[in-house]
Amino acid sequence: MRRKVLVTGGAGFIGSHVADAFLAAGDDVTILDDLSSGSRDNLPAGAAFVVADIRSPEARDLVATGGFAVLDHHAAQIDVRRSVDQPDLDAEINVVGLLNLMEGARAGGVRRVVFASSGGTVYGEGSALPVGEEAPKLPTSPYGTAKLSSEYYLATFGLLYGIETVALRYSNVYGPRQDPQGEAGVVAIFSERLLRGDPLTIFGDGEQTRDLVYVGDVASANLLASRHPVWPLTSVDARAFNIGTGLETSVNRLAAQLAETAGRRPAIRHAPPRAGEILRSALDVSKAERELGWRPRVSLAEGLASTFRWFAED
Ligand SMILES: NC(=O)c1ccc[n+]([C@@H]2O[C@H](COP(=O)([O-])OP(=O)(O)OC[C@H]3O[C@@H](n4cnc5c(N)ncnc54)[C@H](O)[C@@H]3O)[C@@H](O)[C@H]2O)c1
Repeated sequence: MRRKVLVTGGAGFIGSHVADAFLAAGDDVTILDDLSSGSRDNLPAGAAFVVADIRSPEARDLVATGGFAVLDHHAAQIDVRRSVDQPDLDAEINVVGLLNLMEGARAGGVRRVVFASSGGTVYGEGSALPVGEEAPKLPTSPYGTAKLSSEYYLATFGLLYGIETVALRYSNVYGPRQDPQGEAGVVAIFSERLLRGDPLTIFGDGEQTRDLVYVGDVASANLLASRHPVWPLTSVDARAFNIGTGLETSVNRLAAQLAETAGRRPAIRHAPPRAGEILRSALDVSKAERELGWRPRVSLAEGLASTFRWFAED
């Protein structure tokens, strides 16, 4: 059945792929984005587009009056370091902005809300890898605290108003359209540098690991999360799913594999380790496989190849 879906942040990296997935499934898609980091170039043909800040009355009215069955929320302040410097700004966008949309959703009878949370920042450090959804939560950044708070607010809206909410806790997402100016997109940054013939900078010894998940797989997780019957709200984790691969890839290995994909032999420059950087990271994604019927399908080699190709053609 064709549904009306609102994707916030759909002019950005992940949101634009999510919008593509809903369109491909035959849904009627509207994108809401203020273009603060997103771009019109990322907007899929076939989606309606509204320029507005998620904190604005216009955004709230759109959610309240648009007749949407699904709100898929990806708009956010995504810079972890900025959240440390300006925790109030981060909370205004990532928490109060979400509440503004949720008030619209309540008024407008939106049934389902899918939320882009963060498996890299909501958990405390020191849990055994791969980290499961029930692991202790203790964010080390205001960004992580805002994501976790948002999950709690969503659960509360579920309890109060019966809105069906699902949180997807992503690991490190990579793929076409990721902004290489951002701080998080190591694959995008390396791809651009390889294309320019610049050296790759690796912080520390490069043995720190990331769980790299391809954006197309993340988009299909959103589609499944928008359709699956919801689970009883027994805790904030009940409707939360880790979305990653469960595999650790070191920055050294990533650099080597991407260079091979690109057919280049870049110089590698080592810089001092970055303060506060997590040393190892991997998410246990067995719950998503068991309960959502989702699993990552794109291997790192395939994902890097398609990402590098996109940067080369862009
Ligand atoms: N990239 C990752 O690895 C990753 C990991 C975990 C979670 N996430 C989450 O996924 C979501 C999408 O991230 P992304 O990597 O695609 O980032 P992105 O910056 O490409 O996308 C965010 C989009 O939101 C828009 N936006 C920002 N503030 C807004 C506001 N106040 N009102 C309206 N629109 C606004 C931006 O213009 C942009 O298009 C975010 O919620 C992010 O926290 C991303």
